[in-house]
Amino acid sequence: MIERTLIILKPDAVQRGLMGRILTRFEEKGLKVVATKLQVLPRALVEKHYEPHKGKPFYPGLVDYMTKGPVLVLCFEGPFCIEASRKLMGATFGYKAEPGTIRGDFTASKGMNLVHGSDSPESARREIELFFKPEELLNYELQNSPWMCSDEDRKATS
Ligand code: RTP
Ligand code: MG
Repeated sequence: MIERTLIILKPDAVQRGLMGRILTRFEEKGLKVVATKLQVLPRALVEKHYEPHKGKPFYPGLVDYMTKGPVLVLCFEGPFCIEASRKLMGATFGYKAEPGTIRGDFTASKGMNLVHGSDSPESARREIELFFKPEELLNYELQNSPWMCSDEDRKATS
């Protein structure tokens, strides 16, 4: 199944100069960038993006953190992209995330955890629509795609 997901390299990833290394993890996995923008997110957009967490104790701090500086917003496409990306990211809290994952390798912080990824097909649809206009999502083939994704992958369901 070919899916799309929304990934955000959070302000700490940009400030710590980790954008390249984090992006490499997704590229090496075989996921394709179909849209990207570097942006200081307006507060209202962050509030909408994290709306499912509204009312939780960490919500105000989360909105502050996500508006503190530029972020790199990306849409990736690939086989089982949503689950694959969540695995690459690792557990939510850096100190609990397994070594080998992005969070596990680059942070021990609880909330300042470098990267966001959609957690379901429904979230991915909602979030991609929130950050990108349809015409900003590119349709193109990577030359290596026959070696990154089989017909079986395309047909399979997760
Ligand atoms: P994300 O949405 O950013 O990809 O992270 P996630 O799915 O792994 O975790 P989620 O439960 O959706 O939480 C969203 C973000 O809120 C911050 N957080 N802080 N201090 C806390 O207890 C706490 N819990 C969550 C993290 O930045 C987390 O990524
Ligand atoms: Mg989440």
